[in-house]
Amino acid sequence: MRNDVSPEQTPTRLVDYRPPNWRIDHVKLVFDLAPSATRVRATIRFRKGEGGEFHLHGRKLTLVSAAIDGRDVTADCVTDREGLTPPGPLPDAFTWECEVEIDPASNTELEGLYQSKGMFCTQCEAEGFRKITFYPDRPDVMTVFDVRIEADLIASPVLLSNGNPVTQGRLPGGRHFAEWHDPHPKPSYLFALVAGNLVSFDDTFTTASGRAVDLKIWVRPGDEAKCAFAMDALKRSMRWDEEAYGREYDLDLFQIVAVDDFNMGAMENKGLNIFNSKYVLASPETATDRDFELIETIIAHEYFHNWTGNRITCRDWFQLCLKEGLTVFRDQQFSSDERSAAVHRISEVSQLRARQFREDAGPLAHPVRPEEYIEINNFYTATVYEKGAEVIRMLHTLIGPEAYRRGTDLYFERHDGQACTIEDWLKVFEDATGRDLSQFALWYRQAGTPKVTVQDDWDEIDGVYTLTLAQQVPDTPRQADKAAHVLPISTGFIARDGAELMPTEVLELTKPQQVFRFSGLPSRPVPSLLRGFSAPVILDPPRPSEDLLVLLAHDTDPFNRAEAGRALGLDIADRVMAGAEVPEAWTAALGNVLADEALDPAFKALVLDAPSIDEVSADLASRQVLVDPDEVHAAVKAMRAALGEAMSEPLRQTYHAMEVPGPYTPDPEPAGKRALGNRCLSLLASASVNGLDLARTQFDAADSMTMSLAALRELVHNQAPDAAEALDRFHSKWQTDPLVVDKWLMLQASAPTEDVLAKVTALTEHPSFDWKNPNKFRSLIGVFAMANPLAFHAKDGSGYAFVTDWLLKLDALNPQTTARLAGVYETCGRYTADRQDLMRAQMQRMADTAELSKNTREIVERMLAS
Ligand code: TRP
Ligand code: ZN
Repeated sequence: MRNDVSPEQTPTRLVDYRPPNWRIDHVKLVFDLAPSATRVRATIRFRKGEGGEFHLHGRKLTLVSAAIDGRDVTADCVTDREGLTPPGPLPDAFTWECEVEIDPASNTELEGLYQSKGMFCTQCEAEGFRKITFYPDRPDVMTVFDVRIEADLIASPVLLSNGNPVTQGRLPGGRHFAEWHDPHPKPSYLFALVAGNLVSFDDTFTTASGRAVDLKIWVRPGDEAKCAFAMDALKRSMRWDEEAYGREYDLDLFQIVAVDDFNMGAMENKGLNIFNSKYVLASPETATDRDFELIETIIAHEYFHNWTGNRITCRDWFQLCLKEGLTVFRDQQFSSDERSAAVHRISEVSQLRARQFREDAGPLAHPVRPEEYIEINNFYTATVYEKGAEVIRMLHTLIGPEAYRRGTDLYFERHDGQACTIEDWLKVFEDATGRDLSQFALWYRQAGTPKVTVQDDWDEIDGVYTLTLAQQVPDTPRQADKAAHVLPISTGFIARDGAELMPTEVLELTKPQQVFRFSGLPSRPVPSLLRGFSAPVILDPPRPSEDLLVLLAHDTDPFNRAEAGRALGLDIADRVMAGAEVPEAWTAALGNVLADEALDPAFKALVLDAPSIDEVSADLASRQVLVDPDEVHAAVKAMRAALGEAMSEPLRQTYHAMEVPGPYTPDPEPAGKRALGNRCLSLLASASVNGLDLARTQFDAADSMTMSLAALRELVHNQAPDAAEALDRFHSKWQTDPLVVDKWLMLQASAPTEDVLAKVTALTEHPSFDWKNPNKFRSLIGVFAMANPLAFHAKDGSGYAFVTDWLLKLDALNPQTTARLAGVYETCGRYTADRQDLMRAQMQRMADTAELSKNTREIVERMLAS
């Protein structure tokens, strides 16, 4: 650890929040766009708030001029790395005029105003607006924006900003301009500007109250044909928000822009969402079923922010989950309404475990509402987003859907136009239901995934069944001795012969330990606990395997059927690692799932597999067993091979039965069939060479990316002799489509083969790889680190060294994306000492790099401190 704490490594604390000294009545921005010398003129009407010091945030800005009420103060302004302080004293209201110069062309951080493939675009959340002009860049300062953009007509024929268009016209010197007005007061982080050579895919939407809204998706010329699905998802989202939450859209125009260089998924700028192009563009030939699904979810997510985030925003960045947890919960509700709810929930929970439980169990654990941060960009985490959504789901479960709707209605009525806190959010539910939520509020303050232990007892004579549930919230960095949470445990009972003994009931666990008694039961029930994953907890120990077999075969709750399959798989992995053969009881139980006509193919596809290496590793770690990645890999491989062998005939039959006739549609039903077909293919391929013949045929015949990519993956991951040739064919067909090239990189980076590091290293030199593009970097380096446990955890440390080299290289250009990826080391504590030492050495190497960014340094030092 360093002992000199530089000013930029000092934390910001929730307890230090103070309302803004100065507020803003109006802002006018004029952009004179040029790639390396853009001029920004701001005219801001300030009004005294709390009063006191007047300081404006600003970074990497060249001050040209500044005036207060028309008086030039340029020479008297004091500037430093973080901002500007103009000379005092100041009247209670005044006009600030300021001109700065910025350099979008050399902005590699992709924050503020930058260029992507010649297009100008902005990313302001969380604190990027201060790289555009001097401003009180905090979310509780909201105002009306007027924006004028001037640019070269040929290079940037399309000029966009938030709100509604006002005027546009020609200027001398081959330039032109456009003016935009956004009537809704907003914080600076929701500001957006786009200028470039773009074409739009258009549609309209009529709101519930009959207003027509123009919808436009802006893309590079040539990509228009890949917008239809995103547009359809947008219209469905708009309708859904009217029906489910009573929320109508509030401008005459809603626009989406797709950009190739983007740090995250997408951004909800008011009336002008900006998206990573991978979450907009889709065609059957270039996008997989999973891509379509993600596009639908992310389009919905950003659209829903219009009310949960934009109309009602966050008071400060500690309240991030106020908008993100809620908006994730809303997009989850939408997706499960649009698709099979159970299937959707199963994959959601598996992601929650893979990302959030992982975070909560490691050195980066933090509460859903953190209490301090060094770099706010490091807190756009699985905990804030996914656990934040789970907390709202629990609230929904505890008070029921009607009371939940009364609460959200009150929230919109009471807080529209405000910058709010979690306390405001909880208060509307207390007022709408009369329920005291003070214990529930602990979910926002306590980090760590609770463990729930279960003991049961059966009194044969009286027919009384007793469940004793106990909870324990683990210690996490700088947080110990935690209080009991409110835990809704949705529970049902199944008889050993499969009959339902009790439909779902929500047990409320509020104490460290509680006893629940059930009488009048005809036989000892098998409890089906935590149905639908009603609380984000770990059940420990899992049910005995006899019970799991009953639940896998008969549970009336499909989510818990899948859960039983998962728990069983983990148990088998344990036994295989201890030297046992893969038991036939397991392959037979999964064989029954495959044969069950009543089950949805999409559901079967999720259940029919061995647990992943990551799942087994996390499970071992949660029981304090140190992980040897090679052993886990071997066990999982043996399980998959056993499954493929034992079921080869039914797998082959199902594979053929899942063929979808007719043209491709991304609808859930055919997608489910493709998922099951490809699952069969994958199991067959890991068991025998015949699977590879099927893969070869599928690859040659495929008319969709889903089918083509799944087949190619089997060829490459199982080292088919013709794998290299297939990869080349795929590459030459798709080399001009950046999103497909990403898939080509990912597939190679995740190959569980001996020579993969050499291949990935060679790919870093390939003309199709561009390490400065975040999607490309994540596809090759990120996927190698996150989805190739065998190679990343290589015994000689070569995987760690390779990834760290690249993280250090990217950090100099793009700290935000680097810091996120540096989290690959958060699981260090899971592994055996040899791996831990190697990983810590690489983390130390980063910490010892003097020029390491503030973002990455925070992450690395938190990881090293534990
Ligand atoms: N608010 C965005 C969302 O959840 C995500 C976001 C935060 C973001 N910071 C960002 C996106 C920086 C891109 C870059 O939808
Ligand atoms: Zn969001």
